Amino acid sequence: MKKLVINGGYPLKGAVKISGAKNAALPMMTASILSDHDITLHNVPELADVRTMMTLLESMGMRINKNHDDSLKLNGAQIESKFASYDLVKTMRASIMVLGPLLAKYGEAKVSLPGGCAIGARPVDLHIQGLEKLGANIEIKDGYILASAERLKGSMYHFPIKSVTGTANILMAATLAEGETKIHNAACEPEITHLGELLNSMGAKIKGLGKECITVEGVENLGGAEIKIIPDRIEAITMIIAGIITRGELTIQNINPLHMRQPIELIRQSGARLEIFEDSLFVDGSNEILPIDFETQPYPAIPTDIQAQLMVLNAIAEGDSKVTETIFENRFMHVLELKRMGANIRIAGNTAEVRGVSRLNSAPVMATDLRASAALILAGLIADGETIIDRIYHLDRGYENLEEKLSNIGAKVQRID
Ligand code: UD1
Repeated sequence: MKKLVINGGYPLKGAVKISGAKNAALPMMTASILSDHDITLHNVPELADVRTMMTLLESMGMRINKNHDDSLKLNGAQIESKFASYDLVKTMRASIMVLGPLLAKYGEAKVSLPGGCAIGARPVDLHIQGLEKLGANIEIKDGYILASAERLKGSMYHFPIKSVTGTANILMAATLAEGETKIHNAACEPEITHLGELLNSMGAKIKGLGKECITVEGVENLGGAEIKIIPDRIEAITMIIAGIITRGELTIQNINPLHMRQPIELIRQSGARLEIFEDSLFVDGSNEILPIDFETQPYPAIPTDIQAQLMVLNAIAEGDSKVTETIFENRFMHVLELKRMGANIRIAGNTAEVRGVSRLNSAPVMATDLRASAALILAGLIADGETIIDRIYHLDRGYENLEEKLSNIGAKVQRID
């Protein structure tokens, strides 16, 4: 199994370019099921999750051309199978987003229930409820969701909890439903808005993107489209934190600062100097690092996907802080590993109480999920000595060329078997 070896203590300096957003690319790939025409996506990150989604879509009959640049051309005209197996769905929960499009376009789908996950139970009951509201017949049998419908009918669905992939599923399904659908308490994440923009350029009639009430006027069919995927705000924030904690000076390129206003304001409270430009940002980590209290919440607030990374900043800050995780019930797995590296963190329910220490020490540690692996890399960058991170495959699911990017700005990182 591959591991990462990091020699800590080197300030990161120079420029780093952020890749396209995983959480935008995956739903857009599933949206191509809705059309018989070419959907071309540019700025697609080279990630394990993107490859898994390609495998899943190709297993259904989707034709996919991968160009040498970072583009994918998808064509769903010859989809024959409406089946997503347990083997694929359990490797990547985002596979659940084939459910809405398959049902809307073909009137049937058999998709495995995702099952448990390291960070929480993560049920998909709301996806099912929402599709039932649109008239789908859904049965759960032998671990699979069996869904059917003549043609989905526009309706109203109010999400009791904001759900990102849930909103994506219902939004995609509603584009081909008969009549109008209103989605209340919809997710407002930029990746959902971006998905809606792709659907609109395919011919869908969606209004209210980025707001909590989205209205979709169903159409008979959807056409082709071409779009450039937005930058990955989670990768961008991970890099900002890397710049600060290594006391570096980094220019972070190819970002959209408007997608990360609240995280930027929060990070400023740590004393770091951030200069924001239209599509880049400069971070200077030479100031004293102050602790920052925060809780994770749906967009536009602080994303759960940066909780682990910000915890590393707090771990070496001058003072105490409180971090509250409100989205997932078990997203503190990285804390136990950070403690093995000398962090002083106490977990009380869904809050982590962090007492800043002056330095972290190296240790062999284990990545438990995607963002936890990013946090351990950040910790390794500042730890004394050599940190070895096991189960690094989690990282490859969501960060494109991270070792190469970090090495180019001065980190000592290498991958070993
Ligand atoms: C969530 C995050 C997203 C992050 C992703 C991976 C939020 C709102 N969503 O998206 O930012 O990129 O994890 O870390 O921050 N839920 C149900 N039933 C459902 C669907 C969801 O109870 O049918 C609950 C979940 O257990 C969770 C919350 O709703 O507590 C939000 O889940 P959801 O947004 O659907 O999860 P993801 O789409 O995976």
